[in-house]
Amino acid sequence: MLLKNKVAVITGAASGIGKAIATLFVQQGARVVIADLNEKEAQATAKAFIDDGHEAMAVAMDVTSESQVDSAIEKVVAKYDGVDILVSNAGIQYVAPMHELPFNEWKKLLSIHLDGAFLTTRACLKHMYKSGKGGSIIYMGSVHSKVASALKAPYVTAKHGLIGLCEVVAKEGIKYNVRANVICPGYVRTPLVDKQIPDQARELGISEQDVIKKVMLKDTIDGEFTTAEDVAQIALLFASFDSNALTGQSLVISHGWYMQ
Ligand SMILES: NC(=O)c1ccc[n+]([C@@H]2O[C@H](COP(=O)([O-])OP(=O)(O)OC[C@H]3O[C@@H](n4cnc5c(N)ncnc54)[C@H](O)[C@@H]3O)[C@@H](O)[C@H]2O)c1
Repeated sequence: MLLKNKVAVITGAASGIGKAIATLFVQQGARVVIADLNEKEAQATAKAFIDDGHEAMAVAMDVTSESQVDSAIEKVVAKYDGVDILVSNAGIQYVAPMHELPFNEWKKLLSIHLDGAFLTTRACLKHMYKSGKGGSIIYMGSVHSKVASALKAPYVTAKHGLIGLCEVVAKEGIKYNVRANVICPGYVRTPLVDKQIPDQARELGISEQDVIKKVMLKDTIDGEFTTAEDVAQIALLFASFDSNALTGQSLVISHGWYMQ
């Protein structure tokens, strides 16, 4: 087991990619914290893990709320006596052309992705530094951390921003053995993607099938979606890697959509 007794806080873990990461992490022996805005689904996810004999807890957390993030991490530390891994994963998408983009949607998206990453990182770092045991911080970037797509200004901006944040955290964290890395997936069929298919079809005046083929998977080398389980394997690599050699990096997993 690669994560035996490690405490892993995963935001947005009640659905999609975060849930797949939580599933792999409990299988690897981690004590997993399902931190999500959707408290009901977070509780149900944690309960399913516990029923299967794993160690898990749910915390209600809006990652944009300083008080909710701080109190949730305090709860985790009170129960498990520390935190070893943070996966800052909670996110949303908003599809609109720049000239029609409502300011409140711009601010909301940036806040969930960037304020959320900042607040959860800060809350966990304090404990990682104090414990002397180090830790691993993993940000959920995207191929959109590397390239732009039309209609996604706030998302592309936020995902690029996570790379900068990760590099600062890597530089500051190294003397405490805290590593920071970014995962950059291509398109994964989750509720976040399913919702944007009709949005993009409407904005572009094409069919939903064409959004999938001619927009989402156009630049992959095999026309395939990345899966949440693929992404979870990369999260496991970053979480379990046992040396400071692997820090400040961003790894793209996208069926060849973006090669670096
Ligand atoms: N699906 C993709 O194609 C894809 C590709 C690259 C990156 N990503 C990134 O992966 C992450 C997860 O996306 P997903 O596709 O699994 O989406 P999803 O919609 O399936 O899950 C997102 C989760 O985040 C939670 N959430 C939303 N706002 C929150 C908030 N303010 N506080 C706490 N939790 C909140 C939701 O309740 C949900 O459980 C996001 O950061 C997304 O940008 C997704």
